[in-house]
Amino acid sequence: MQKIRPTITPQDIVCAQVKAQPNALVVFGASGDLTRRKLLISLFELYKNDLLGEQFYLLGCGRKKLTDEKFRQVAQQAIQEKSGDVSSKELQDFTDKLYYISGDYSDAPLYDNIKVKLAELNKKHKVDGGLIFYLAVPPFLYETIVEQLGSAALACPPKAGSKQQVRLVVEKPFGRDLQSAIELNNKIQQCFDESQIYRIDHYLGKETVQNILIFRFANIIFEPVWNRNYIDSVQITIAESIGVEHRASYYDKSGALRDMFQNHMLQMLALVAMEPPISFEADRLRDEKVKLLRAIRPIDLDQWNRVIVRGQYGPGSISGKKAAGYREEPGVDPNSKTETFVAAKLFIDNWRWKGVPFYLRTGKRFPCKDTEIAVTFKKIPHSMFISAGLDDVPSNVLILQIQPEEGISLSFQAKQPGSKICMSTLNMNFNYADVFGVHMPQAYQRLLLDCMVGDQTLFTRYDGVEIAWQLLTPVLEAWQNESSEPHEYPAGSESFPQADRLIQTDGRKWRKLGEI
Ligand code: BG6
Repeated sequence: MQKIRPTITPQDIVCAQVKAQPNALVVFGASGDLTRRKLLISLFELYKNDLLGEQFYLLGCGRKKLTDEKFRQVAQQAIQEKSGDVSSKELQDFTDKLYYISGDYSDAPLYDNIKVKLAELNKKHKVDGGLIFYLAVPPFLYETIVEQLGSAALACPPKAGSKQQVRLVVEKPFGRDLQSAIELNNKIQQCFDESQIYRIDHYLGKETVQNILIFRFANIIFEPVWNRNYIDSVQITIAESIGVEHRASYYDKSGALRDMFQNHMLQMLALVAMEPPISFEADRLRDEKVKLLRAIRPIDLDQWNRVIVRGQYGPGSISGKKAAGYREEPGVDPNSKTETFVAAKLFIDNWRWKGVPFYLRTGKRFPCKDTEIAVTFKKIPHSMFISAGLDDVPSNVLILQIQPEEGISLSFQAKQPGSKICMSTLNMNFNYADVFGVHMPQAYQRLLLDCMVGDQTLFTRYDGVEIAWQLLTPVLEAWQNESSEPHEYPAGSESFPQADRLIQTDGRKWRKLGEI
């Protein structure tokens, strides 16, 4: 298959970049994994790119006892590991803006101490009103912290004329099922107004996921064919080569449906399939996503294993290296029934999509990391080349490559030079790194910045979370009540017979990973 590459000239670029307003960021769970791996480096990148501004500081809060100095050292180390920046002045200046306070999250005096500290640091850093609370703690602590913030009068719902802009960032998972998500929403909304709540799904911060919106709604040529008349089927894949790693205590109680499907997969599906929003404003976009999620046909529990199947990785090998099975991983229950792979076939019952299958699969311990959305168009209605034996002309396939090779590719037929009728499939490829020559910013950079400027567009609204759970909770219950176990697939394989059957019964097959 041949490849064609597009080019871009600087005058074609139209940007709208905003800088953060003065903000204090309080991170609960500051000594934890998420802060170390994602938040600090993302904030540092924003700082380096002059998007954070000088009127900023971070107050870390955790159960571990640390001095400001120690916290700064840990932060420097974490940032250095990711950025390779050994000891620049920028790194020093940035970490000088970090502070730490320790305490028990259920203890009211901790919140009094936070208040005192905030008053002192606001003065020092000339921050005047902007305050973000970030819950980077295990989900069972969300309610406790939110309640305490409310009781300490730190939540401060917006008041007309007030400079106070208090926001709350909540990490996923947001609930374990419909009921718990409703309860959590209610709890948070008792203290915070919906306009203050930023529910993170880090996939929405990925450049390539945001590009789905630009691709669909800033071009005229795709929208007319973006429907059941032209599209045969859509496949959405999030394949990971990593296993459960050091997260067994969380993952074994969660599984792929809760960890990836309820959020990242359904959010990508919503962006691909929703109607055009009337404007790029948070609620207009979220209205359309919610409308789309509402249109997904409920999973028929009488035949649910024909539309959704689960697997669990067994021992195998990845890139020539032996890989342990899920049940042998440290911290995993040796009899665990937790799924590490989910494949599903969904239908969207609306005018645009009626009858078009959306095949979704996600799992750990695939042979490689690969996230993509593949849109397969219908075949041409009649081949005029039939006399030359070309009656089965391949379909056009559009691939939105989310990661790790970020780009877009469109396959089409072309005449191959030489004999009179010789056709071959060409791929028109666009690769972000080649074309823009920049490394892709971390998803958290985008999301943190958006939160600081008060833009909720890329955050999930309460109803979006609940509708996603509404679709999947019956499946979770059915799996829980079932005596059967997830199907085993060897680590390093792309599928297993039951997942294949789900798509093969329709005369289609899963795309091979990395296939363009
Ligand atoms: C997280 C899941 O939300 O996403 C992890 O909890 C998963 O299990 C991760 O590994 C994948 O994110 P990314 O950005 O590496 O695709």
